[in-house]
Amino acid sequence: MWLGEQLNCDSWPKQFNKCGINRTPVAFGKKGAILNISSASGMYPVPLLTVYSASKAFVDFFSRGLQAEYKSKGIIIQSVLPFFVATKLSKVRRPTLDKPSPERYVAAELNTVGLQTQTNGYLPHAIMGWVTTALLPAKMLNSYVMGMNVSQRARYLKKQKQG
Ligand SMILES: NC(=O)c1ccc[n+]([C@@H]2O[C@H](COP(=O)([O-])OP(=O)(O)OC[C@H]3O[C@@H](n4cnc5c(N)ncnc54)[C@H](OP(=O)(O)O)[C@@H]3O)[C@@H](O)[C@H]2O)c1
Repeated sequence: MWLGEQLNCDSWPKQFNKCGINRTPVAFGKKGAILNISSASGMYPVPLLTVYSASKAFVDFFSRGLQAEYKSKGIIIQSVLPFFVATKLSKVRRPTLDKPSPERYVAAELNTVGLQTQTNGYLPHAIMGWVTTALLPAKMLNSYVMGMNVSQRARYLKKQKQG
């Protein structure tokens, strides 16, 4: 279920709970799985990507809430929270261990369906998720991510200036 599809399908917030789910196996009395793509950016605030991060936290909570509602009907609704994957969106050109190709990521992710309702989907990402949420103090993480994004923005603006 794509968030974009849901946002297009009816007005917020009156109809939101009905959106998307009525196109899924539950509408036909079947069992099935719905994978909602959130992001690791939804696991904690990402300054300078605040709207993206907040919207991904929404996708995560939305999915987990729906999973609780539909579990008894045999429907799996999984919240997927990847770190970087080498796609057009991320602009990562060369896959690495921590930034896998989409094929590699998806193959690993699909092994978690039915086992985890909320997942980073890929072992190196699960380790990164654990380090960033369970090991690092939130304050430290916040200033690290802010610093990283400030320098990324500065690089981008410099490049724009140079034409
Ligand atoms: N890549 C990452 O590092 C990463 C990390 C965490 C989460 N995510 C999430 O993963 C999801 C997929 O991203 P991706 O990395 O696979 O990106 P991608 O390779 O750029 O693919 C995005 C897909 O969304 C489609 N799309 C874009 N805007 C759309 C719109 N307005 N209506 C309908 N379809 C639209 C694109 O269609 P066209 O090809 O026709 O443009 C494309 O098929 C996103 O929700 C992203 O936030 C990605």
